[in-house]
Amino acid sequence: MTRHNDADASTAITRASACAKAILLGEHAVVYGRPAIAVPIPACRAWVTVRDAPAGGGSIIAHDVGARYLAGSFCVDEHGEFLWAAVEGALRACCASGPWPSLEIEVHSEIPIARGMGSGAAVSAAMARGIVAHLGLALAPERLSELVYDTERLLHGTPSGIDNTVVAYEQAIWYRQGEGAEPIDLAIPLTLLIGDTGIPSRTRASVALVRRCWEAEPAPLEALFDAIAEVVQRGRSAMGRGDLVELGRQMDRNQALLAELGVSDPALERLVAAARQAGALGAKLSGGGMGGCMIALVPEDATEAVEAALRAAGATGVVVARIERQRAT
Ligand code: PMV
Repeated sequence: MTRHNDADASTAITRASACAKAILLGEHAVVYGRPAIAVPIPACRAWVTVRDAPAGGGSIIAHDVGARYLAGSFCVDEHGEFLWAAVEGALRACCASGPWPSLEIEVHSEIPIARGMGSGAAVSAAMARGIVAHLGLALAPERLSELVYDTERLLHGTPSGIDNTVVAYEQAIWYRQGEGAEPIDLAIPLTLLIGDTGIPSRTRASVALVRRCWEAEPAPLEALFDAIAEVVQRGRSAMGRGDLVELGRQMDRNQALLAELGVSDPALERLVAAARQAGALGAKLSGGGMGGCMIALVPEDATEAVEAALRAAGATGVVVARIERQRAT
């Protein structure tokens, strides 16, 4: 895998960013050891600016939540807690023995919060990239992925590790817990439309719901996870061959299995149906579900029609994402 680093540390101000992500196939089952496929959304990013602050005057300015968090404050909200955890993780990686420098860090993200697009992972990855580059150091993607995983645990409890991995490597990946990630073959570019229901996705709640059902009655859930694993395997082969029709079919099948699992909802179903009717090759929820975003695979000449159909069906935002072809090396 190649290293992605867009931080510019040549001046006293360091800028860095990290991308959004979408889970193409396999969410939820990935928590139970099945494989999943995730893709980066490079056009949609979280950005940070890092500069030196006077000693003891460190702060984080979070533009998207309209907050400034001062270093050393006792009471911070959940956003502040998450952001400081990301900063501390990066500083610990850089200056294990201290002392920690005082920094002013500004954060701005184009990625909608709590929609299954990896906003938290991207903010934490951009923070780590920015801080490390500002201190004149380098961070391998494996280490970046670990740092982001630690902050993901604050948000999600028991994340599978797929979000931090795809955001750290910024490549389409095949991921399986315990085995890690592999870049996958993508023979032709994909055009994905990401439709936002406008409803915050409660990943923690949907993961907990699936966990409760699995604990109560593991056999039917294990069968669903196996069916999802097969969909992921078929989807991967279709991507390698450049067979978009087959990939779309597997996305539809995955959506049916996720609905059976119980993590879809009427708003997601409405957007999925609208995308298919307007010419999408396949469509499904992406991420934790129960609100959040859906993705549609579209032939390029249907992009406008599908986007219009998603908006007419109530999408509060639509992102058009192109995933470039890649060869696994
Ligand atoms: O963070 P989200 O909403 O993209 O969900 C991640 C996907 C899940 O499989 C539901 C959870 C996980 O940790 O993999």
